[in-house]
Amino acid sequence: MTKRIIVVGSCNTDMVIRVDHLPLPGETIIGHDFITNQGGKGANQAVAVRRLGGETAFIARLGNDDFGKNSLRLLTEEGIDTQYVALTDGISTGVALIPVDDKGENSIIVSSGANALLSPDDIEAAEPLFREAAILLMQLETPIPTLVSAARLAKRYGATVVLNPAPYPKEPLPAELLEMVDIITPNETEAAGMSGVKVADEGSALKAIQAIQRQGVGNVIITAGAAGAYTTMDGQLVCIPTNKVDVVDTTAAGDTFCGALCVALSRGKDFAEAIRFANKAASISVTRIGAWRSIPYEKEILNS
Ligand code: RIB
Repeated sequence: MTKRIIVVGSCNTDMVIRVDHLPLPGETIIGHDFITNQGGKGANQAVAVRRLGGETAFIARLGNDDFGKNSLRLLTEEGIDTQYVALTDGISTGVALIPVDDKGENSIIVSSGANALLSPDDIEAAEPLFREAAILLMQLETPIPTLVSAARLAKRYGATVVLNPAPYPKEPLPAELLEMVDIITPNETEAAGMSGVKVADEGSALKAIQAIQRQGVGNVIITAGAAGAYTTMDGQLVCIPTNKVDVVDTTAAGDTFCGALCVALSRGKDFAEAIRFANKAASISVTRIGAWRSIPYEKEILNS
């Protein structure tokens, strides 16, 4: 079986400003450095897969504008199969505005643009990719019916379905989607949104994981920043720790984790080993500013 990982999802141009603190409602603040860099949870995950040594194809929609054309060129230069990344007339490429504070925490405002037009028809058109795929990786910045179509195709051809439930929607996710998900990777906030359990320690993490599994998902990994990642093995809670690092910017840490996890699984690593690899990759990404700018290469993991 091929080890190819299909990523379905968003691609944004990120505009990042460093600030002393995140602005309060109605407050104007003066920030420091400004950078523009590539982002979008889907694109970040595809780039993470590629830089960490995986084979990937990306299914996405961009605007037929300067941001979109630039993103398509850069995705292709990363070595990602972009034959199903479409430039769309009459709508802008997705954009994200991201202030990052002194502690590395951020707020993100996304204007979805063309991401919102990624459709079930786009997925059907990309069916040949699914025949060869080992893993389908998705997030929630593109329409849910599109993700349902992708998961259905993945299941038809025997691929593992991995869902990063970010950003967590106001409405619960449809049961049909969750029942097709083999691995879900919420952070603590998303896990609380899905389970109704505030994740604060190992006991509450176990309760949250069990509540999410009752919704039909196979395996749950809760990413918990400096605490590492919680999952269950044989019904027991396991916390897999991560490296202690100086945090500069947490943007795309979750995306890096997901891409790395899929690469390790596609190489036949066991669950715990795959999570350790993903923790290492994410811990490097938070030491650098930006989304694509922060995503590490495989050789950096081997040296960490
Ligand atoms: O997960 C980080 C990403 O969220 C950013 O790159 C931004 O574009 C938003 O999609």
